[in-house]
Amino acid sequence: MTTDIPTLTNAERERAAAHVEFARREAAKIPDIPADLPTRQVRRVAVIGAGTMGGGIAMSLANIGLASTLIDADPAALDRGLGRVRANYASSVSRGRLAQSAMDERLESIRGSVDIGDVKDADLVIEAVFEDLGLKQSIFRQLDAIAKPGAILATNTSGLDVDAIAGVTQRPQDVVGAHFFSPAHVMKLLEVVRADKTAPDVIATLMDLGRRMGKVAVLSRIYPGFIGNALFRNYTREAHFLVEDGALPHEVDAALTRFGYAMGIFAVHDLAGNDVGHQTRKAQMATRPTDRRWNDLIMKLADLGRLGQKSGAGWYRYDEGSRTPQRDPEVEAFIIEESRRMGITRREISEDEIIKRCVYGMVNEGAKLLQQGIALRPSDIDIVYVTGYGFPAHQGGPMYYADRIGLPEVLADIKRFHAEYGYWWEPAPLLERLAREGGRFADLQV
Ligand SMILES: NC(=O)c1ccc[n+]([C@@H]2O[C@H](COP(=O)([O-])OP(=O)(O)OC[C@H]3O[C@@H](n4cnc5c(N)ncnc54)[C@H](O)[C@@H]3O)[C@@H](O)[C@H]2O)c1
Repeated sequence: MTTDIPTLTNAERERAAAHVEFARREAAKIPDIPADLPTRQVRRVAVIGAGTMGGGIAMSLANIGLASTLIDADPAALDRGLGRVRANYASSVSRGRLAQSAMDERLESIRGSVDIGDVKDADLVIEAVFEDLGLKQSIFRQLDAIAKPGAILATNTSGLDVDAIAGVTQRPQDVVGAHFFSPAHVMKLLEVVRADKTAPDVIATLMDLGRRMGKVAVLSRIYPGFIGNALFRNYTREAHFLVEDGALPHEVDAALTRFGYAMGIFAVHDLAGNDVGHQTRKAQMATRPTDRRWNDLIMKLADLGRLGQKSGAGWYRYDEGSRTPQRDPEVEAFIIEESRRMGITRREISEDEIIKRCVYGMVNEGAKLLQQGIALRPSDIDIVYVTGYGFPAHQGGPMYYADRIGLPEVLADIKRFHAEYGYWWEPAPLLERLAREGGRFADLQV
């Protein structure tokens, strides 16, 4: 495989770093919400669902001195959740990062409950139950009946329609998305999701809370997967197609790490578990559109028991007790056989093509988000990517990167991919316009 990823000069790296700082500051500004709009007072918080996310959210609150009630309908799940919180703090204490007294104080501020009625005193409720619209709607109906007037009702959904959740309440103005990332007490990104009727002071309060938690809060409108996961879908899809077309997982990952990612996408899959979202994806397969290329390699790997690190094999193999991905002839033979089965003649794929397909897929989607007003500004997309998705900061974020390469050049490649691969590469009209006018994403006015 050819290595053709250009190295950046120091000046280019410095400019990208300055852009990331600029993007961080800009994200706090919302054109129709004055910076001095009074926020709602948040003294007591209730978090519903004591799973992976709920516990981490409660910790993020405790870390800034906000008491919370962590509520789970299942007493065993509540115990497990509180246990995880305790273990996380204990690990910080043992590593000398937190004083025992601080741990005690924070643990004290998180009270467990199995009664949703305990939301009644909360100024802010953050729902983090399973990703199921019907379940979330039933919780919001209850919140509508129990929560005090003016309480902010937030959902941590990863991509459900927040309007459909707000719509079951009599107070949609108080409903907002608060998309934390996992682990919530560590990850620095918070997507604040503005639904149709969300009140400006609710948004201002959430943006401010995110900042106080030491996170970068970025506003998104409702869209499947919001800003971050919408782009991520394009990134992973192309990585998987590349593997079907002729690259091997370690080649894709090598190109991505050379570009600056700490880990390639296949190593990330193996870390997260190839079975994550498995059932949802399987269910989608039955009704998926048939007019576009699809990829189900990850489901096939999961069905073969290749779950990733936790099963010792996924896109790579892992020696006992090791987290180091090793090439696995077995999975490579499987991938080659799958290409043959699909009638694809495998070919050598350059690192240049790997980066273009993975990054330009995100750029094109980002342009579509901007055009629809899902993301306010290109730099918001960049900061989401650098903060929450491991996009190399020295590359500045996908939209900045595209501006640096030059939009006419980016568009020419996207058009070439469109001609070759079809549907997924339909160029975004905004990108076409900017490229035609000699513009840059950075020139777009908010
Ligand atoms: N895990 C992630 O990486 C991640 C990241 C961002 C957002 N999210 C979103 O956060 C939400 C929670 O995800 P998770 O991974 O923490 O799930 P999880 O399965 O770890 O936890 C969900 C918890 O909700 C509880 N629950 C279910 N029904 C309940 C009810 N009626 N009342 C009270 N509690 C109830 C369950 O007992 C469980 O403890 C989902 O909407 C998910 O899409 C997850």
